[in-house]
Amino acid sequence: MNTEKLEISVAKGLLEETPANVLVLNLFEGVKIPAGATGAIDIALDGLISKFVIAKEGFDGKFGSTYVFPTYGKIAAEKVMLVGLGKNKDFNLNRLREVSQKVIKKCLKMHNAKKVISVLHGAGIGGFDPEQSARMIAEGTLIGAYSFDKYKTEKSHKKVDDFVIVDMVEENCKKAKTGVKRGKIIASAVNFARNLSNEQPAYATPSKLAEIAQSIKDVDVRVYDKDEIEKMGMGAFLGVARGSSQPPKFIHMRYKNSSKTPQRKVAIVGKGICFDSGGLDIKPPSSMLNMKDDMSAAAAVLGVMSVIKDLKPNCEVHALIAACENMPGASAYKPGDILTAKNGKTIEVDNTDAEGRLTLADALCYACELGVDEVVDIATLTGACVVALGSVASGIMGNHQPTIDKLIKCGAAGGEKLWQMPMFEEYFDSLKSDIADMKNTGSRMGGAQIAGLFLQNFVKKVHWAHIDIAGTAFIEKKGATGAGVRTLINYLMS
Ligand code: BES
Ligand code: MN
Ligand code: ZN
Repeated sequence: MNTEKLEISVAKGLLEETPANVLVLNLFEGVKIPAGATGAIDIALDGLISKFVIAKEGFDGKFGSTYVFPTYGKIAAEKVMLVGLGKNKDFNLNRLREVSQKVIKKCLKMHNAKKVISVLHGAGIGGFDPEQSARMIAEGTLIGAYSFDKYKTEKSHKKVDDFVIVDMVEENCKKAKTGVKRGKIIASAVNFARNLSNEQPAYATPSKLAEIAQSIKDVDVRVYDKDEIEKMGMGAFLGVARGSSQPPKFIHMRYKNSSKTPQRKVAIVGKGICFDSGGLDIKPPSSMLNMKDDMSAAAAVLGVMSVIKDLKPNCEVHALIAACENMPGASAYKPGDILTAKNGKTIEVDNTDAEGRLTLADALCYACELGVDEVVDIATLTGACVVALGSVASGIMGNHQPTIDKLIKCGAAGGEKLWQMPMFEEYFDSLKSDIADMKNTGSRMGGAQIAGLFLQNFVKKVHWAHIDIAGTAFIEKKGATGAGVRTLINYLMS
């Protein structure tokens, strides 16, 4: 929430004449005599960069490395930060986003970096379009500057107030402004999601999520309360909600582009377990510790919807969240209970900690009844996915390869890795129940796939993909990442 003060803008001007505390320049790996903007400043500094920083100090432009030095009044900026872009052939927009995150983090650690100016990395020799370059710089800078300090009584004093992209070509500035605008929208969606999933569970309750959904402008929102959820026949969702004193909320947000052309209809469904204690099959302390993050997917969906009026995708978007807590209260659902989902299928509760798939089951049924063409669900669903893929990639599976392929592509363009898992039908065997249509858990082996196979029972006649962000949504010491936001945005815009 450190980003509130940080203003990113574009200004036409000469780098050496623009006053700033820090001027950010770049170097590709292995370059000894810099060209472009870095070369021009090197000349203005009498070869300080080439003869000293590179030749003597050995700064080699390795990806993400930085070197800061004073300019002693030779140019208007007090200091230069040289950032390594890595090998020219490996450089791309994702790397630019990444490097921009590193630069701002470094600036935030400096004593005095109130005003930072930067070149449009990659737009010169790198060959990037100035709009794309500026977008990535803005996105990375705002995502990198984020910190969750709401509950710190002493906030960090070290702040960057202004981050200005400086270019001397009018046309480049124009394009860069468009890019910055876009980058700000994306970063605001990501940081919106992070704020929500970093929140304490006492704050981010199902009712709070509903309230937040209702406060989003230009989106139709309907919130169903417990009685209405019951009337809709969402027995699986209600089963999970039973053990908590917090009432469940089913949230349906709808966005419709005002243009008249026929549009594709999509539903995005986010797992919204506001706290996952495991229920009666209670989790051990170490596993429960971060379970406030079990609504990260709902937060991602809300993040996307918070900017949808600015993005104006050419499709009808239905965003769905079955929000509740999974608690072991006196009326909690029990192992052995049989729940009936919205589509009539019966589920024997095998483990109350496999709650996400139960809430998603009803949300998926609801989504399929909307007559949408595609349904994408996203969820912090299985520890098995974390074991399989770690925190670098989210898992993806589904019933329609082109939809999966598209999402993988959209993820890649946003710097979010998605790795497809199979859904071998053989694994469904372990979900067979003697007395109901299925159980909610089976074998521990292949757990991410089994969860996917379970969900598939509640998907009818639509193209469906399921994204498991259990490993990517929340990272130890770093907190919430906003995983899925950029993938979903690119997907809606595609
Ligand atoms: N919310 C968890 C999954 C999870 C684990 C998310 C680690 C983030 C990090 C989910 O509800 C859960 O408890 N899953 C169980 C399922 C099991 C009982 C079949 C799991 O993965 O252990
Ligand atoms: Mn659980
Ligand atoms: Zn869970």
